[in-house]
Amino acid sequence: MSDTSRRALLALAAATPAAALAARASAQATTLPAQSTSAGRAAIVSGSSRGIGAATAKRLARDGFAVTVNYLTNADLAAQVVRDIEAAGGRAIARQADVADPAAVRALFDAHDDAFGGVDVVISNAAIMNVAPFARFEDAAFDRMIATNIKGSFNVLREAARRVRDGGRIVTLASTSIKAKRATHGGYAATKAAQEIFAGVLSKELAGRRISVNAIAPGPTNTALLDVPPPLREQAAQMTPYGRIGEPEDIANAIAALCSGDGEWINGQLVFANGGFM
Ligand SMILES: NC(=O)c1ccc[n+]([C@@H]2O[C@H](COP(=O)([O-])OP(=O)(O)OC[C@H]3O[C@@H](n4cnc5c(N)ncnc54)[C@H](OP(=O)(O)O)[C@@H]3O)[C@@H](O)[C@H]2O)c1
Repeated sequence: MSDTSRRALLALAAATPAAALAARASAQATTLPAQSTSAGRAAIVSGSSRGIGAATAKRLARDGFAVTVNYLTNADLAAQVVRDIEAAGGRAIARQADVADPAAVRALFDAHDDAFGGVDVVISNAAIMNVAPFARFEDAAFDRMIATNIKGSFNVLREAARRVRDGGRIVTLASTSIKAKRATHGGYAATKAAQEIFAGVLSKELAGRRISVNAIAPGPTNTALLDVPPPLREQAAQMTPYGRIGEPEDIANAIAALCSGDGEWINGQLVFANGGFM
């Protein structure tokens, strides 16, 4: 190794509290994963009245988490998700909150804390998809998407950073559109690319607390958000080795794996969950 590279490495080591982290890590390595069981733990899933969020809320409830189901307008659908969870023996509440509004997000977390006493897992899932060519993209559609997908996810992740208990998990929803770079998807894909950065940075900011933070990138998934005509769905299906597009449960399963005790070592990553689509 050259002197220059050695000096650069030493400078990097000096800039991080390496000794403190190493000491904490060796102490922790001797204990069981904090998340070896989800019994008594609680989760918040933004945008879980339908689609991937609803499937994730139900899956986490099945895994033993008490769940707060969040929605924007579809109170009836959110109430149905809660009923489904309760019918399966789980615990859940539903709360309206526009993730774009920081005060509403704080109130969402407060309501969750009041109901369940704290939060261990936060899934930043709520998002919208507005697509158009650059030349025809309207300001209002672009701004609303930024407000929901970037600022909204930031609001959720900031509150998660403040409140998730040690040993918890945070997952934010990115998209395979980051890779696909399809025409008309520029604005949407950019909001999803931001999630990779959010997860990577937050995983480091929470160092020493055994909270793993990841972004998960679904491929085309069978929800209302995938507003494309049947021939395009079929085309997408043929692009995966499985010959189908994803179901919300496929993504919920992958999120649940990240949130399990076994998921601890996957941290600060962008994880593609797309059946091999791309
Ligand atoms: N479906 C796909 O093909 C696909 C692919 C890659 C990534 N993703 C990502 O996966 C996530 C879930 O997508 P999805 O397909 O399940 O979407 P979806 O079916 O359209 O559901 C969106 C959910 O977000 C909620 N929501 C929207 N705006 C909100 C806001 N401002 N505040 C709070 N909640 C809000 C909706 O609530 P209401 O019911 O009240 O409107 C609904 O529960 C998104 O982040 C999306 O970008 C999806």
